[in-house]
Amino acid sequence: LSSIRVDISGVDQGTQLTVKWLGKPVFIRRRTAAEIENARAVDLADLPDKIARNNNIEGDVPANDENRTMDEAGEWLVQMGVCTHLGCVPLGNAGDYTAADNVGGWFCPCHGSHYDTSGRIRKGPAPENLPVPIAEFVDESTIKLG
Ligand code: FES
Repeated sequence: LSSIRVDISGVDQGTQLTVKWLGKPVFIRRRTAAEIENARAVDLADLPDKIARNNNIEGDVPANDENRTMDEAGEWLVQMGVCTHLGCVPLGNAGDYTAADNVGGWFCPCHGSHYDTSGRIRKGPAPENLPVPIAEFVDESTIKLG
């Protein structure tokens, strides 16, 4: 399978890089402390999809934020930028913690699916969390996809 290396040295906290991999967008987000806190405070019982959907972990592990991020601290979240409903590209609205639904994260404008700051589906028609592709740190400023 084709793999690519992505230079993440220019990605500031609270921003994301979108790269194309295998013809699909991949979001590489460097989360803020607030985004991490928001993602980790979520009760698993509130998640429509309770599976992490992380291709780097074998088996159906629970969708704790810790099971979806690249690093233990949870700063780096890498996921496919493809809505699990019908494949639109969700828009980032991270930091929108004051929204009435208090979800933040990503929003798919096609049919209104809301994903939280961990990329987990919270509201709307999408059935699954945004999948985490095979990814690893090659060094501190490079992530390899695939
Ligand atoms: Fe995203 Fe339908 S494609 S909500």
